[in-house]
Amino acid sequence: MVQFNLPDNSKLIEGEYYKSETGSTNIKNFRVYRWSPDDEKNPRVDTYEVDMDNCGPMVLDAVMKIKSDIDPSLTFRRSCREGICGSCAMNIDGTNTLACTKPIKDCKGNVAIYPLPHMPVIKDLVTNLKNLYKQLTSIKPWLHITEKQTEDGIENIQTKNDRAKLDGLYECILCACCSTSCPSYWWNSDKYLGPAVLLQSYRWLQDSRDEARSERLKELDDTFKVYRCHTIMNCTQACPKGLNPAKAIAGIKMMIAENRT
Ligand code: SF4
Ligand code: F3S
Ligand code: FES
Repeated sequence: MVQFNLPDNSKLIEGEYYKSETGSTNIKNFRVYRWSPDDEKNPRVDTYEVDMDNCGPMVLDAVMKIKSDIDPSLTFRRSCREGICGSCAMNIDGTNTLACTKPIKDCKGNVAIYPLPHMPVIKDLVTNLKNLYKQLTSIKPWLHITEKQTEDGIENIQTKNDRAKLDGLYECILCACCSTSCPSYWWNSDKYLGPAVLLQSYRWLQDSRDEARSERLKELDDTFKVYRCHTIMNCTQACPKGLNPAKAIAGIKMMIAENRT
């Protein structure tokens, strides 16, 4: 059962029902989590009838339609509408995914929309990802090369085979769908880096041009940072980009073992 961070001393209640006034018979109900820090009210689930004859094909189209035509107070993040920016990640029908690439036709019955689980909610579908970004910063997600190399302006050549090692890693859009579906991350996100940050870390460990591999591995060699992954695999199942963070974490564990010898 997916759990959500409810504000202290609150309970989730049934909210408003917004009936469609278009007269269409092609209606789908969207049940959306609502909570605002601006009042003392309990979080609630509002239901919106959306006319499918006048709505785009993706869940994000419906959410945007609700905001523009029915309830302007609904708050969510989105930018690219193309599965590239990662900002529209939310929990749809019990699965973390991108609203802009999730077809409404794949949702049977009412569509349940919640914020990413186990993250502090800022408002409605917007969660606070500060901890994840802090963890990302801690792995120094950039190429480490010597000053001499930078000064000389010499091209840092990579073979085709070495470049291919980054496939399946560089495509990560840091949407956080994986980390927020991982029970180990739910309970230990203060110390465990989680699948999103570890996949990013593996991306730099696999880069043939990077000169900090050994230091990076020593940094990761910690009871919590990596080893709280218990191969639950929710992360790989959830990734809307079809990436495999669980495999990346296994790769990090092997590299750490090799680096110790
Ligand atoms: Fe999102 Fe996939 Fe990257 Fe995780 S690995 S942050 S689910 S794109
Ligand atoms: Fe979590 Fe994925 Fe590991 S779900 S425990 S990070 S395999
Ligand atoms: Fe950018 Fe969905 S709006 S990934």
